[in-house]
Amino acid sequence: MSEEEKTPEAAPKQVAVKKGRKKGPIAAAVVAAIVVVAGAGLWVWHEQPSFCAAICHIPMDPYLETYEEPAGAEGVDKWNNAVSNTNAMLAVTHREAGEACMDCHVPTLSEQVGEAVSWVSGNYVFPLMEGDLNSLTEASGMDADQFCLKSGCHVTADGADLTTRQQLIEATADLSFNPHVAQHGQRECSDCHKGHRASVLVCADCHNEAQLPEGWITPEEENQLIIQ
Ligand code: HEC
Ligand code: HEC
Ligand code: HEC
Repeated sequence: MSEEEKTPEAAPKQVAVKKGRKKGPIAAAVVAAIVVVAGAGLWVWHEQPSFCAAICHIPMDPYLETYEEPAGAEGVDKWNNAVSNTNAMLAVTHREAGEACMDCHVPTLSEQVGEAVSWVSGNYVFPLMEGDLNSLTEASGMDADQFCLKSGCHVTADGADLTTRQQLIEATADLSFNPHVAQHGQRECSDCHKGHRASVLVCADCHNEAQLPEGWITPEEENQLIIQ
């Protein structure tokens, strides 16, 4: 490079430094404003279902894909096993009801920072470890029962707001086999209801009379799922 070519570059830089000093406070205010606006935008974007998968494809894609599958149709679970009716996956039925990822996955800042660090460092196992509902709802300060039986979430066709296990029993009392009866001790909701794979009727091992809702599977079929 010749001297001539260098000079035009060098000159504006000096000017820029001088200008920078004078306008320091203004520049700082502009930067602060940009950070605030971008931050707010990022927060809104981060609440969209597409965010998780856009940022960290590899672990998140299967979760977004299951969430976006058409309801009441054949589909696949997060591990790519066939699901005969996607209504057996909570992520699908809740999307249909207008819920986003974070309506179920209560986010905390420390959890998200931890996830970001794991993703950037590649320090996670894939497929991801499966959490149960209690771990999912921990950040909300509620256990799975309190969280899933929140008022206004599960309102039956005849207007009953299901907020207790007793009401849940009544809501499914018309089934030939009532899965919510705690005959042999209380089960976790997530023992049966699954987010991103077919739900499992854990009672079907012994109760042949227990009818599988469409798309649901037996514990035996669950054991044959391929985890990948
Ligand atoms: C109905 C509530 C619900 C919605 C909506 C939902 N999930 Fe899930 N998610 C679950 C449940 C329940 C699990 C536990 C594993 C399972 O049942 O498949 C889970 C598990 C996960 C996991 C694995 C980590 C863990 O704790 O097991 C990831 C990652 C995940 N979901 C991401 C998403 C993303 C991304 C979306 C939106 C595109 C989403 N989820 C929407 C309920 C939901
Ligand atoms: C032993 C398995 C099992 C457990 C445990 C379980 N459920 Fe269910 N649940 C079912 C089955 C099966 C259905 C019927 C699903 C269908 O017909 O698609 C059902 C239906 C429901 C419905 C729909 C009720 C309606 O209006 O028809 C809700 C809401 C529900 N469960 C919530 C819960 C919650 C919350 C928990 C934990 C407190 C829970 N379930 C625990 C198996 C279970
Ligand atoms: C390990 C086997 C096994 C599993 C799993 C099992 N049960 Fe049972 N259950 C039995 C036996 C055995 C009886 C008593 C036999 C009888 O009276 O028919 C029984 C009886 C019952 C009864 C009394 C009424 C009836 O049908 O006789 C109910 C209600 C019941 N079970 C509900 C459930 C529910 C709900 C689940 C799943 C959450 C479940 N059971 C899971 C073995 C099992």
